[in-house]
Amino acid sequence: MTYFQYRNSTLYAEHVAVQEIVEMYGTPCFIYSKASLIQNFRAYTDALTDMPHLICFGTKANPNIAILNILANEGAGFDIVSIGELERVIAAGGDPKKIVFSGVGKQKHELIRALEVGIHCFNVESTAELEQLNCIACELGTVAPISLRINPDIDPKTHPYISTGLKANKFGISAKEAVSAYLRAASLPGLKPIGIDCHIGSQLIDIHPLLEALDKLLELIDELNEHNIVLEHIDLGGGLGVTYEDENPPHPSVYMHAIRDRIENRELTLILEPGRSITANAGIFVSQTILTKTTQEKHFAVVDGAMNDLIRPSLYDAWHRIIPISIKSSPKENEKTFDIVGPVCETGDFLGKERKMCLTAGDLIAVQSAGAYGFAMASNYNTRPKPPEILVDQGKVHLIRRREVLNSLWQLEQVITT
Ligand code: LLP
Repeated sequence: MTYFQYRNSTLYAEHVAVQEIVEMYGTPCFIYSKASLIQNFRAYTDALTDMPHLICFGTKANPNIAILNILANEGAGFDIVSIGELERVIAAGGDPKKIVFSGVGKQKHELIRALEVGIHCFNVESTAELEQLNCIACELGTVAPISLRINPDIDPKTHPYISTGLKANKFGISAKEAVSAYLRAASLPGLKPIGIDCHIGSQLIDIHPLLEALDKLLELIDELNEHNIVLEHIDLGGGLGVTYEDENPPHPSVYMHAIRDRIENRELTLILEPGRSITANAGIFVSQTILTKTTQEKHFAVVDGAMNDLIRPSLYDAWHRIIPISIKSSPKENEKTFDIVGPVCETGDFLGKERKMCLTAGDLIAVQSAGAYGFAMASNYNTRPKPPEILVDQGKVHLIRRREVLNSLWQLEQVITT
């Protein structure tokens, strides 16, 4: 069920009117629903109760520590890609033993810290990384648990910027190289192969490419068994898509059943790294119309939220549904087709194009499905403070990140005085 719904023509986040939140914290702002977050997380775990599993939230989708804390309390582990994410997860109360560390270029200080806190597994992406990690583990007198990220060369049929499992992509090790890389890893004193992983892309609507990748990994597991390398887990990464417009991705339980059919007779723990499917539809981005303007070609609604706050439309041409906070009773003929744009000085600064809406200055809008890769990708471009993040829990409103203040934006800078 959705936790952002109209009541008497006014949009609510759980039991709180969005208008009320805006009166408290202003616009633009991100608003999340705790119930929605938990519902999306449990969609995975409820389908896996009788199977060993670890759901490692893809931290990059929404790294706010309040969000991470809620997921940690639900039993989540975390997929991280930097020391920043590692420290965030720890600050949020996440268990280091439930962390998997992905990424094509992990730095020495990051590997050291991850070894010190004792993460569950390093998802190694190259033979060079294997050697580096082995040296560091040996220097520290420890053994690093590893998995190799396999690049299965499968087209996930998604946006090229978020396809990661094709041989032309920078990620992972090819299936051909995998066995020799595992044999090398098994021979090194600082490494212990415990798993195998892949992540073929994001916003996948069809699960067949994911299952094809799973089959490839299972073949490799069998081949490794013949070499006496027995793995404990299989990690299929993240990637399950969500509905932004009219996409119809399978419910996580359908995906989980398909996986279970393939692996339940094996002694393997299933690890997944979902990000978007847990937080995207648990969040909205709220913005206020500054003014409307009509050129010879178009109607524009200029709003106070922009590409620096939510870059997905500008960067990927991503389509997000945009709805009014209050539905007006005015007749349909008052609607116009607007490009909804921000104040940033770029033609590419838009939240939505050609949206039929009834908008005038002062009107509030909500950009839906903004809980994943929304605030997470925000910047200060045009010296715009990042917006606040607010979490609604039934009737309670929690400010989980304050709006940035202007002078903090140049706090780390210095005028040269000599
Ligand atoms: N695991 C790994 C290794 C990843 O690289 C990613 C996402 C995930 C898990 C989580 O994937 P998800 O379940 O969220 O699809 N900024 C883009 C998405 C980039 C995804 C990068 N990797 C967007 O806004 O669409």
